[in-house]
Amino acid sequence: MGGPALTPEAQADLVRRAQAVLRANDRGTFTQPAPGQYPHQWNWDSALIALGLAHFDLERALLEIRSLLQGQWRDGMVPHIVYHGGPSGYFPNAEFWQTERSPAAPALPTSGLTQPPILATIVRQLHERHSVPGFVREVLPALLAWHRWLHTTRAADETRLPCLVHPWESGTDDSPRWRRALDRVQPADLPAYLRGDTAHVAGAERPHDHDYDRFVYLIDQFRRRAYGPPAMLAQSPFLVQDVLFSSILHRADEDLSALMRAVAVPAEEVETWLATVREQFSRRFWDETAGLFFDYDVRAGQALRVTTAMTFAPLYGGLCSSRQAHRLIDEHWSNPAEFAPGAALRYAVTTTSHGEAAWEPRRYWRGPVWINYNWLMLEGLRRYGFERQADELRASSLALIARAGFREYYDPRDGAGCGAHDFAWSAALALELLSAPSGG
Ligand code: GLC
Repeated sequence: MGGPALTPEAQADLVRRAQAVLRANDRGTFTQPAPGQYPHQWNWDSALIALGLAHFDLERALLEIRSLLQGQWRDGMVPHIVYHGGPSGYFPNAEFWQTERSPAAPALPTSGLTQPPILATIVRQLHERHSVPGFVREVLPALLAWHRWLHTTRAADETRLPCLVHPWESGTDDSPRWRRALDRVQPADLPAYLRGDTAHVAGAERPHDHDYDRFVYLIDQFRRRAYGPPAMLAQSPFLVQDVLFSSILHRADEDLSALMRAVAVPAEEVETWLATVREQFSRRFWDETAGLFFDYDVRAGQALRVTTAMTFAPLYGGLCSSRQAHRLIDEHWSNPAEFAPGAALRYAVTTTSHGEAAWEPRRYWRGPVWINYNWLMLEGLRRYGFERQADELRASSLALIARAGFREYYDPRDGAGCGAHDFAWSAALALELLSAPSGG
């Protein structure tokens, strides 16, 4: 899949260009995911950006993480956007969120939602590569408070799996797996708003207006409730448990526990979350007939049966048995009617199964390839010993970037670049992929 391997010269050129994108998007203390389209600091973007920055500027990488944590709420939530950098044309802007209504909000303007908690995993990587025990001690309390908030304040049942109240919290905003849960949301009394995202990127590559109305409506509901977590859990019309988010959190709990042991801090609390989620995860998400993990609509009390690449996330989280892993890979990953490259698809991994009616190869999370997701899958494939598939995916990811540049996402049929240009995590993860030719 995806063309010939890159020559050493082409690899060196990619490294230079990736560093140039990270430098160009650097605003001193934080990095914009993309100039114009995303002008502030985003949560999981900045963690992945720090991983890339550490390849050539460790101090700047640590500063990226410190800046993100400045936006942490007093109850532990690390928000999905921190509005560093002052006013911009981005919608929703800081004024729209009105987070000052919440006693838990920090002085710095932020959004009122969270995002996939990949940060502890990145901090562990940085510590193992560069030995930064002082930094680990500095950020541990913030990481622990965030994970505790996810497993308690945001947990609605004995599974301890966090509940997401908005598709943006999943990081995969318009994924078709949210469609049924979103369709139930009736946006009455919607505040007037103007989309900013379609000013920079073609509307055909961005979420549908039908979904966007619901995204905005949900925020309006939360600000009316002053972002009180009990009210949001009890009343949000959108309430889901997410396979990807939960897998990322579980892996991050493992990494948090390792970091705590590394600096001699007791980790029993984290070990308890690990044990509970290990026991509950498959009961909640695994569908034995389909051989897939499906997200769970907590509000409706039923699985969201849509086949997307997020079904492979438990490989990354270490949450599947070897039998489940083989079913995922043999029946789905390797199936050209769903995910495998073949006559219809040249590049992996399409974020939504090619066989789904909702598949749209150029629209956001409805089908395109995303480099961050490929990187997560690479880690997951290697964790379960699928080395050949991991090598192929690495080569395909680099071929895409070499062909179309550091784009936000790519059309899996022809590799065309879509969405924002000079996208920071695509650059950061190119550095990561190029530095680890065979895993690690
Ligand atoms: C989009 C993505 C989200 C990302 C953000 C900034 O909203 O869906 O995952 O964090 O852009 O890049």
